Amino acid sequence: MPTPTGSRPSTPGSTAGPALAIDGGIKAKSQPYGTGERFGAAEEAAVLAALRSQHLWYIGGTRVFQAEDAIRSLFAVEHVVCCSSGTAAIHAALAACGVEPGDEVIVNPISDWGSVAGVLALGAIPVFCDIEPATFSLDPEALLRAITAKTRAILVVHLGGYPARIREIAGIARERSLKLIEDCAQTPLAEVDGTMIGMFGDAAAFSTNDSKHISCGEGGFVITRDAETARLVRLFTDKGYDRTAKRGTIAVGFLAFNYRMSELSAAVLGAQLVRLRDIIAARRRYAARLLAGVQDIPGYAPSIIAPGSAGSWWHILGRLTGKAASIGQQRVAAALVAEGIPAYTGLSPSRVLYASPALVDHSLCARNRLLRADFLEGYDYRPGLCPVAESLANTALILPCSEFFTDQDADETAAGVRKVMRHFGEER
Ligand SMILES: Cc1ncc(COP(=O)(O)O)c(C=O)c1O
Repeated sequence: MPTPTGSRPSTPGSTAGPALAIDGGIKAKSQPYGTGERFGAAEEAAVLAALRSQHLWYIGGTRVFQAEDAIRSLFAVEHVVCCSSGTAAIHAALAACGVEPGDEVIVNPISDWGSVAGVLALGAIPVFCDIEPATFSLDPEALLRAITAKTRAILVVHLGGYPARIREIAGIARERSLKLIEDCAQTPLAEVDGTMIGMFGDAAAFSTNDSKHISCGEGGFVITRDAETARLVRLFTDKGYDRTAKRGTIAVGFLAFNYRMSELSAAVLGAQLVRLRDIIAARRRYAARLLAGVQDIPGYAPSIIAPGSAGSWWHILGRLTGKAASIGQQRVAAALVAEGIPAYTGLSPSRVLYASPALVDHSLCARNRLLRADFLEGYDYRPGLCPVAESLANTALILPCSEFFTDQDADETAAGVRKVMRHFGEER
């Protein structure tokens, strides 16, 4: 094991302090991060029971409906429809809210591609609205500027476990008679002033893919207070078949898909839902301890959740400022990784969603025969569209969060961030 040299490290731009691990110093992280098993006896028993039932689809089954009941009571919401993914949930929610070809849907520029796929699949136009550093989500002022006569809906993403400024956003949607769909895939059970996110809009979509707080491999669900929206989501995710009517009756005349959840997935989801509150409580404890240890570090600005709100801490979001930002997020992240802290920088598949080739050169239109070739004509997805989002994408520094991480993990991570930022963040 290397010994602390106490010498001035070789990293350019660095200042005195213990040598960075990347320069041969001792790692800040002395022990591996806490781990644990996400799936245990409850999931095993549920899967086995589903198999033994000899019935693995929701039609005539019980497990999807039981998972929906569990979500209904966990979220205190009237209507829940489970489906095959978060992308499917967003697609179905948009369709149920009446988004049609040629409508504009205002979306976050930093998110998973699943936030935008459903907009495009409906032949609607994603209009990217700038975000704010505090929440990494829509800036209400920019939102007002993004609304046009063609705007039909706002699709707001609560990113990384942090609630967006949803009260203001919901107020704008109401005033302008726009539909509001909340993408809560990364932020289940977060709250704003005692109200759960997902309850502010016309519908909300969640993902239960394997990267999320709870997983059933692949899955998602839509929640809504409106019975008609729920009915349309159910039809949209089940090829338009109305299972409550005569067998096989096609109830509506719109194109709908098979986005059903299977009984096997629902069996796992049911067991995972029981754990969700505890998972989030553990993440909240970890985040609080870590954040207490990284206050007032020059060059590092952790995102803050507004007083009265509660996050669900998918990640610990933050950004580099000042000298550290100009040194570059890749170098700072590499130094943290060398300390044993798996920091990363990517928030979207491309740095902002509108930099995706499919949008930049409109090649999607030419290749997807479902869409009119000219449907994005006049929409220029160019660099500079959302300057704050682009700057955040270039300066974000993300730390991992897990229900299995310990107090020691929080303390060593905070110490590691302090150590690295002492080298990169201080203006000397
Ligand atoms: C914010 C957000 N929206 C939508 C999705 C899409 O979910 P899925 O991967 O289940 O389709 C994801 C998944 O990564 C996501 O993080």
